[in-house]
Amino acid sequence: MGITAGEASKASQIIRSVLREVSKVIVGKEEEVKVILASMIAGGHVIIEGVPGVAKTTIAKSIAAAFRLSFSRIQFTPDVLPSDVLGTHVYVGDKFVFRKGPIFANIVLADEINRANPRTQSAFLEAMQEGQVTIWGETFKLPKPFIVLATMNPVELEGVYPLPEAQLDRFMTSIRLDYPDRDEEISVLERSDFIEELPVNPVASAEDLLMLQKIALKIHVEKNIIGYIVDIIRATRRDDDVSLGASPRAGVHLLKASRALALIEGRNYVIPDDVKYMAPKVLAHRIILKKKALASGLTTLDILERVLKTVKPPMPGV
Ligand SMILES: Nc1ncnc2c1ncn2[C@@H]1O[C@H](COP(=O)(O)OP(=O)(O)OP(=O)(O)O)[C@@H](O)[C@H]1O
Ligand SMILES: [Mg+2]
Repeated sequence: MGITAGEASKASQIIRSVLREVSKVIVGKEEEVKVILASMIAGGHVIIEGVPGVAKTTIAKSIAAAFRLSFSRIQFTPDVLPSDVLGTHVYVGDKFVFRKGPIFANIVLADEINRANPRTQSAFLEAMQEGQVTIWGETFKLPKPFIVLATMNPVELEGVYPLPEAQLDRFMTSIRLDYPDRDEEISVLERSDFIEELPVNPVASAEDLLMLQKIALKIHVEKNIIGYIVDIIRATRRDDDVSLGASPRAGVHLLKASRALALIEGRNYVIPDDVKYMAPKVLAHRIILKKKALASGLTTLDILERVLKTVKPPMPGV
């Protein structure tokens, strides 16, 4: 079953108006915003890397506001407990009632997730994965849509508990927010008072995002595109500089993210360029390099560039 003309035009109208609202506040960063939006449409969670003050919070808040989604921010530190995040029972009247924690929001900005202690990290990531919180044998569903945007400190910093590979694999994409260029930085300063007011209109709704998620599932993917994705994934495992390549789950995420990107680009089918565009975003945080490669200054992005050069995309219509 394909996408109807009505669905296609509704989807493109929602996507265009959300991107327009976000661009009123965020200077530049179109690519990063697009990847976050694609991940949200694909129902995936995002890692955002970046030094302080590069608009990580502002981007997350703007997107949430444009979709009129509930938003919460959790600042992780080593002393944050699972109950601070998930919620806790409080005694009211003559009985215990569950008071929901900040994880119960459509968009959860998990700031500095690698500063949380391992117990809190795993409780949070488990709830994120399952879409629910179970406490005292009772289960509470997280809202839908539910998207985690997790920021991370550079690993060189002290007091960091790096996320285990298995946890990183649960994030669909990772992006890096770099410093703006000079002209952009001038705009940020000139527009700072305006930006701080966050003048983002709620042009869409949670229902709209759920609808985009459903439509994305109907984006057509040719068998040879699936083959291309699998070839990329397998090539990361064979690379001489890699000690842990991408998992089958990574392949599934790359497929979903590519479909969402196709929808954003106004197509009802995936092309090899969608896959190429999303591959570094989906795979960079999951690949582990050998010590020797790391020492020589290679990054996982270098490896992916090499992989994408070697693996041949399918020819159209073959
Ligand atoms: N590209 C940008 N567009 C608009 N505003 C920006 C941009 N980069 C930085 N800023 C401004 O910088 C300020 C800090 O942004 P924000 O709080 O979102 O950063 P952050 O990355 O979340 O920082 P931290 O790591 O300290 O939480 C905001 O007032 C924001 O307006
Ligand atoms: Mg912030």
